[in-house]
Amino acid sequence: MCGIIGIIGVEKDIGSKLLECIKRLEYRGYDSLGMVTMTPDFVDLRKDIGNIEKANQKLKFSEMKGSLGLCHTRWATCGKITKENSHPQFNQDKTIFVVHNGIIENYEKIKTKLESKGYEFKTETDSEIIPHYFDNKLKSGVKINQAILDFMDDIKGSFAILLIIKGQEKIYALKRDSPLVMGTKDDFNILASDVYAFNTISNKTIFFEDNEFAVVEKNNYQFYNSKGEKITKEIKTIKIPEEEKSKNNYPHFMIKEIEEQPFCAKRLIDSFENSQINELNKFIKLLKTKKKIAFIACGTSYHASLVGVSLLKRAGIHAQSIVASEWSNFIEADKDTFIIAISQSGETMDVVVQLKEAKKKGATIGAIVNVPYSTIQRISDISINILAGQEVAVASTKAFTNTTIVLLQLAKMLGVNFDINQIPGKLKETLNLRDKCREVAKELQDKKDIYILGRHFSYPIAREIALKIKEVDYIHAEGMMAGELKHGTLALIEEGVPVFCLVPNSCPYILSSTREIKARGAKIYLIGNDKKSDLQIPNCDDFDFPIYSALVGHLLSYELGVLLGVEIDQCRNLAKSVTVL
Ligand code: M6R
Repeated sequence: MCGIIGIIGVEKDIGSKLLECIKRLEYRGYDSLGMVTMTPDFVDLRKDIGNIEKANQKLKFSEMKGSLGLCHTRWATCGKITKENSHPQFNQDKTIFVVHNGIIENYEKIKTKLESKGYEFKTETDSEIIPHYFDNKLKSGVKINQAILDFMDDIKGSFAILLIIKGQEKIYALKRDSPLVMGTKDDFNILASDVYAFNTISNKTIFFEDNEFAVVEKNNYQFYNSKGEKITKEIKTIKIPEEEKSKNNYPHFMIKEIEEQPFCAKRLIDSFENSQINELNKFIKLLKTKKKIAFIACGTSYHASLVGVSLLKRAGIHAQSIVASEWSNFIEADKDTFIIAISQSGETMDVVVQLKEAKKKGATIGAIVNVPYSTIQRISDISINILAGQEVAVASTKAFTNTTIVLLQLAKMLGVNFDINQIPGKLKETLNLRDKCREVAKELQDKKDIYILGRHFSYPIAREIALKIKEVDYIHAEGMMAGELKHGTLALIEEGVPVFCLVPNSCPYILSSTREIKARGAKIYLIGNDKKSDLQIPNCDDFDFPIYSALVGHLLSYELGVLLGVEIDQCRNLAKSVTVL
């Protein structure tokens, strides 16, 4: 995870520019912040633990000066959350500075070699080997481009690295498996983990592919392939709508993203008739012709994929979904396989590695993603954009809704009878349950365990609501198949334990599980269409029940988080984009 930024060519306010850009990457990690700026004869290095706001209040990163600089927001993988382990990492002479996103798997071996040459290590990080590695190469007379090629040969693991050397007005940028992009302007260039970091400043973007590197100057840049040969890269123009870049007047991104769902859903549904019609038709063709259909996803996106499996079944198509980290244990990809990858960020490493393997075996890949030009979108054969707009809160909400709408549209095109245009209006109606959710949240705030039961179409939502309560509110929650309760978990149900039951009109069987838990003294909350429900969602089919019931769960976890006073948008120990295995 981690977010990295490098800027070259901004003379006066480089600190504030770097800070402005890194803030947009804070969703990638917020354990610590570090920045280095320099001119040919001056270096300023500052770093501290804590999120960007806290660190900046203390060390005034925004006031740093220089003609080039690097910045890093960390999600700790290797080494504790300390100032020393924060980036930039540097060599002993403090002449080489590096920011790194990724994991260097063979760092211990390289560290031992460098130690035998006299290099001293001061941190617990894998990244510290990078400045020492380059220091050693350059002092041995190896030219920098060759040193980069050697590094890429020697290193096992994933990396997006930006490196600067004192006295040089250049940023060296290299990547494998971790994302890296460049934004270009006439008089300066920006390197970053994703386009959101700089799209307010430049929309002209170049994407790095694996094992490519670039030497970037103020008015110039040159890309190289893995053999060190010069290459010419395409510049893409990327536009991200204005309204999504700030919190506006909302206290948290999470509630902003929950509340903008009717608008985002409408924007997506409109695209089905025009800008996305060709891609949708290609998806349908593959769904009808490929022998094996397999979804791949993680977390909330996985829950959406489970809804997709049920929807495709109604359309007469057999599909399965396996979480990405266990995917290869269950599915053998071949040329008859159509893989549907679902990912908000389009960068989730567990998904990316499986797709790369499946691609080698001849599988066709279709992506349903939110972030345009993300890695998953770019390695897929076809893709549908869920058009949810930037999602900043770590807890994914509007992306879940729009992904499910795409899956509904595919089912509809395959013959499932459903009026998709009613969704934005019903989402708006569901948002009216916010006050009621706040009331229920008050009853939950002291609980240690919460259970959520679903069946058929509502089962994935039971899991989705449980995930939100865990990540946002730090309360243990279990979302499960209602039918499984009597096979074990019922033993945990005692007086006062809160149990939510998701009861679509068409699936009243779940009420038998409700009776079983009521008999054991549980406090039951019904989320359903019936007016007896504690949280009554608009009347709907099985197919769109997941959308409105998940929205109730999102509101509930948000209101609970407000009551508990947690950092709602920056869930403990997590990051928005999970780019490590
Ligand atoms: O970007 P992706 O959709 O691939 O992310 C997958 C999960 O990491 C993500 O959904 C995660 O579970 C969210 N924090 C849930 O709210």
